[in-house]
Amino acid sequence: MDAFTQMYRHSIEEPDAFWAKQALCVDWQVPFTRVRNIDIGPDIVSIKWFADGTLNACHNCVDRHVDARGDQVAILWEGDEPGLAERITYRELHGAVCRLANGLRSLGIGKGDRVAIYLPMIPEAAISMLACARLGAVHSVVFGGFSAEALAGRIRDCGARVVVTANEGVRGGRTIPLKHNMDKALESCPFVEKCIVVGRTASQVDWVEGRDIRYLDLVDTMNAECEPEWMNAEDPLFILYTSGSTGKPKGVLHTTGGYLVACALSHRHVFDYRDGDIFWCTADVGWVTGHSYIVYGPLANGATTVMFEGIPTWPTPSRFWEICDRHGVTIFYTAPTAIRALMREGDEHVMRIDRSSLRILGSVGEPINPEAWRWYFEVVGEGRCPVIDTWWQTETGTIMIAPVPGVTPLKPGSAALPFFGVEPVLVDDAGRVLEGVAEGLLCLRDAGPGIMRTIHGDPARFIETYFRRFPGLYFTGDGCRRDEDGFYWITGRIDDVINVSGHRLGTAEIEGALVAHQAVAEAAVVGYPDAVKGQGIHAFVTLKAGEGETEALRQELRDFVRRQIGAIAQPDVIQWATALPKTRSGKIMRRILRKLAEGKVEELGDVSTLVDPGVVAALADVARARK
Ligand code: WT7
Repeated sequence: MDAFTQMYRHSIEEPDAFWAKQALCVDWQVPFTRVRNIDIGPDIVSIKWFADGTLNACHNCVDRHVDARGDQVAILWEGDEPGLAERITYRELHGAVCRLANGLRSLGIGKGDRVAIYLPMIPEAAISMLACARLGAVHSVVFGGFSAEALAGRIRDCGARVVVTANEGVRGGRTIPLKHNMDKALESCPFVEKCIVVGRTASQVDWVEGRDIRYLDLVDTMNAECEPEWMNAEDPLFILYTSGSTGKPKGVLHTTGGYLVACALSHRHVFDYRDGDIFWCTADVGWVTGHSYIVYGPLANGATTVMFEGIPTWPTPSRFWEICDRHGVTIFYTAPTAIRALMREGDEHVMRIDRSSLRILGSVGEPINPEAWRWYFEVVGEGRCPVIDTWWQTETGTIMIAPVPGVTPLKPGSAALPFFGVEPVLVDDAGRVLEGVAEGLLCLRDAGPGIMRTIHGDPARFIETYFRRFPGLYFTGDGCRRDEDGFYWITGRIDDVINVSGHRLGTAEIEGALVAHQAVAEAAVVGYPDAVKGQGIHAFVTLKAGEGETEALRQELRDFVRRQIGAIAQPDVIQWATALPKTRSGKIMRRILRKLAEGKVEELGDVSTLVDPGVVAALADVARARK
């Protein structure tokens, strides 16, 4: 612990010296001479790391390993169908990435161009990301669970001229019509010139001649060598969309050098990664967790990274452990929602499978409740494997707060201590910095080199969202407590962002989808605690005059939201409301709606500032009846 504390202090007190040394964990084409240039002002925020260095992320994740470990498996893919597996060595990965990069280049893609990727969890997803990185093209991966409309919005925002998809995805024994969704999305994206289609299944799909290209046809004739484009450290690597408390999803932009260094360093230390480990992060590459801990972190460190196409409960709730057993997984990283779902299925599904290869268990995406933590530790890990609760965000790029295995004492439910270079600060509503034992809003004074640089196309929103409220600090949107040992306990979002099964959603987005329906006059969406999903979605909906409050309409609204955003955004509960509780200035009182959704009708608090307190009484009657 002393050595760790010393190293941490060094990272905060002498960041330039610390990071100059740590950044050598990646290969630089032109070495940097400057380390850290950060300017956080009221009107301008400029974050630059290693600014005069050049490198290529794909070279670092692939090429540099070919000589030393060309025959080692880089990507260990397990398909949805049990036993269906593919092993891609670093040498093979190099060839596959170069061929696709050459293919993309033949379509006119180069430095700075955006490419949207809408793929299932197949090796081609990682290969596409790396091929973009090789050319200096900026990838924007869109989670395969998003609808055509959500996909279109993201393609339009990033302005991709080329997109990559698959005919279908396969998950939990079911197919997902990815190409069909892409076709629909592209109807509103006339600027997209080419659509590359991976054939994941044998199904035939609609084809637009001249626009659509089979992946295999594209790469078939291409050379397996492709010179990487040497990028400036601050050139963009990717854009990834995430939900905020207001407006449409934000295109979080990450750059090359700092992000890659942060990925490699955190992957090594937080998971105690060592040569020979089999590392499995169960996230989807459509989320930042997949970017940093399936692709960039593990591959930068020359690891074997497992990629799983399916779901934890199919065909049985033993699936995760079977994969761990079959492939000898040593480090396993998943989300509390999956742990809780499997915990509910019973210990026998875990116990009957050998898990002796496991060494480290990680958790990410939402607060892990102590009960789930203990089950993960005792049943899954047999009390042998530290549970590493990692707190971070799409925006921070990499892990910010986490225990270090074998070093930090573990407290179930706490993400423990800040990682190297990370300086958390707790503040109160008025922006006063809180010292010692305290609970407040979590800000970061420093977040290391992996943090986002801007919101694509909207730098003003970047400053407004993260830097305006507390001058000089990055505001995370989370509430947090610091205990007597200086350990951090994340208490959850304090804004209108909800976390459903580890998926981040803005309540405003779901409200927007609901009010787009012709029958809906007004809608307010809040989260409520759910034992498995973390949070569920409760929508209060006011219909237009003359519309009937029917079960059929309820179903129609759920489908309507699914078509606009995706299945993850479908409300669990739709409650009809003749009116919504509003203050005299017209603001919806969400605090009251949250209590109603929780069924805590006795704790509504002061409703005297409402225009019409009777509105609450009517909603509370329904809540009471439901209890
Ligand atoms: C939000 C970020 C980090 C990659 C996956 C989610 C919540 C994340 C934890 C944790 C408590 C957590 C926060 C955060 N969150 N990890 N270990 N303990 N809360 O990334 O979709 O950008 O969501 O997820 O509320 O702000 P994301």
